[in-house]
Amino acid sequence: MINKKNAIESFKQKVKLLKKHNELYFNQDKPIISDAEYDDLKKQLFEIEKANKYLKKLNLLKSIVGAPPTNKFKKFNHLKPMLSLSNAFNKNDMIDFIKKIKNFLNIKDDNIEIFSEPKIDGISATLIYENGVLIRGLSRGDGKVGEDILENLKTINTIPKIIKNKDIPKLLEIRCEIFIGKKDFSKLKSKFANPRNAAGGSLRQKDSKQTAKMPLKYFAYGFGAVDPMLFKTQSEFLEKISKWNFITNPSVKILKGLEEIENQHDKLDKERSSLDYDIDGLVYKINDLNLQKRLGNTSNSPRWAIAYKFSAEKAETKIKNIIIQVGRTGAITPVAKVEPVTVGGVVVSNATLHNEDEIKRKDIRIGDTIMIQRAGDVIPQVLTIDKSKRKQDSKKFNFPNKCLCGAETKKELSKNTKKEDAVRRCTKGYDCRFIAKEKLKHIVSKEAFNIDGLGKKVIEQFWDLNLIKEPSDIFDLDYIQIGKLEGWGELSINNLKKAVEKSHIISLDKFIFSIGIRHIGQENAKILASFFHSIKEFTKLFVLENRKKFLSNLVDLDGIGETQIQSIDNFFSNKTNVRIIKNLINKLNIKNYTAQTNDGKFSNKKLMFTGGFKNMSRSEAKSIAENNGGKVLGSISKNLDFLVVGDTRPTKRKVEQAKQLKIKIILEKEWNKILNS
Ligand code: IVH
Repeated sequence: MINKKNAIESFKQKVKLLKKHNELYFNQDKPIISDAEYDDLKKQLFEIEKANKYLKKLNLLKSIVGAPPTNKFKKFNHLKPMLSLSNAFNKNDMIDFIKKIKNFLNIKDDNIEIFSEPKIDGISATLIYENGVLIRGLSRGDGKVGEDILENLKTINTIPKIIKNKDIPKLLEIRCEIFIGKKDFSKLKSKFANPRNAAGGSLRQKDSKQTAKMPLKYFAYGFGAVDPMLFKTQSEFLEKISKWNFITNPSVKILKGLEEIENQHDKLDKERSSLDYDIDGLVYKINDLNLQKRLGNTSNSPRWAIAYKFSAEKAETKIKNIIIQVGRTGAITPVAKVEPVTVGGVVVSNATLHNEDEIKRKDIRIGDTIMIQRAGDVIPQVLTIDKSKRKQDSKKFNFPNKCLCGAETKKELSKNTKKEDAVRRCTKGYDCRFIAKEKLKHIVSKEAFNIDGLGKKVIEQFWDLNLIKEPSDIFDLDYIQIGKLEGWGELSINNLKKAVEKSHIISLDKFIFSIGIRHIGQENAKILASFFHSIKEFTKLFVLENRKKFLSNLVDLDGIGETQIQSIDNFFSNKTNVRIIKNLINKLNIKNYTAQTNDGKFSNKKLMFTGGFKNMSRSEAKSIAENNGGKVLGSISKNLDFLVVGDTRPTKRKVEQAKQLKIKIILEKEWNKILNS
């Protein structure tokens, strides 16, 4: 009996602890433990409760759910999207970056100017000036819509409120990184996990008087909308704004060639610890703004810049257990549960083991002493194993060949390489409850339905409480039940209701991306949406005979290949997938797809390219056509308006076919003329 009493007491203490972390994480934006530790604690509690009937009766966990962040700030569309950066981790990645740029621009010059800046590990913000007056200040938000944090930003006294110089553009949008210096942070250590969290928490204060108390600083690094455009290079831009009293980083340099790229990286890596702010790498940008414009962006990141990260911090620890996790596409990933260890200021208790082959190759076992490495926000990796510290009775790890749901898993055979994939997958789709939960997390994410207040943790809780089991449940939430949960007040429920209500109107491309068909990312979703145009057409894929017909037509689309077609076919061959997607569609208002730029030189025209061009790569030609309202097809059909033929080795057969179908042929010279007209 005593034992039971003690157990209840200890359980109650742990519940109290979880509530404290919920409050810190969700309401105060200042977690003091890592996500992994939080997840562990929560999981532990649910497991203890499950194993003890008397604890279940107390019903202590049922009411616990993290309070979602409130919609505290007004929202504004960004004038230009705030993108993220792709990463490079080593010399080869940088070689790749340069190669891609040269290919895209179709140039041979190895000494293209690259501007190097430290990548400040802070929180990004954008400042908008009209005729020199700071009129708006936004957080990044989801990259398209930001939060109005002007009053908080204004408390940073080094941010110009008025630019007094005469030579400034009428409209000037300055992108900057807000941070807290290392020295200043040492005084705040007890309140925040790291300087970045401290800066984020301070910027999200409702009361700007609270923000004013924080030692926030910033570096300006870029621009958004500017009119008229006065700068020709990134270096010139930074010099100018520095004269206009913006703070810019002093450790910048113009570089040429790979050697200088590597040297600068090594140099800053060494200087890093002596700087008073955290940097996690360098940002390398093509200096010439004209070239930046030609290179443009992919869905999420510019082609003209890359974050060259510093090598990650390392630490030794021990593997307590190896578990498997199931991703939204069914990928089975092994994860090492390790003895908690601090790596680069963050407590780590999980490390990824990538896949079955990696475990086999390195012969990783439970109980092993390992070196782990943490780079940026990604889950730490296992670098090496110290086999000398291995106990004699240690056993080889047998990778399970079943999913957590019990279904058999498969390794796919790549059509191109004819090799077996390294990743094992569960193929049950929504029929696997582990995949289903991950799919839900994807559906509510920023790039998909973007539902504020329905983050990963809330999805986990709502799933456990049977409030959400499939996507359509999001639109039928039992708010009365949610109201009974701890952390949910009238305000947060109203905010959630509003966010859900808002998200039921969605564009076709976002919808296609959201349902999570493997190999269909944001770009491919757009291509499919422009092909199907309306949800009515898209739903024809649900029926086998129609599907085969549509899929054979998809081959014509540039960007869609065998892999994507096979994946779409697999997805809709699964009856549960179809039922779930139908249920979801019934709750939504899905808008027809309208390509972003319909106007331009090739408005609503279908083009195809063959042969190489002197002044640009095929990728650039394609992107120019699309930016001018055109659609680029991958094969000749009677729907084509123009076949653009480059001088270098065009495919004769294509030209012949086009002639037969009486499709207008544009030669390279003519193409250049059209672009310059
Ligand atoms: S340039 C993507 N330059 O890194 C648009 N970004 O991962 C170009 N950052 O959101 C960004 N220091 O918050 C750029 N010198 C720097 C930066 C920097 C920090 C942050 C910024 C951005 C994120 C991209």
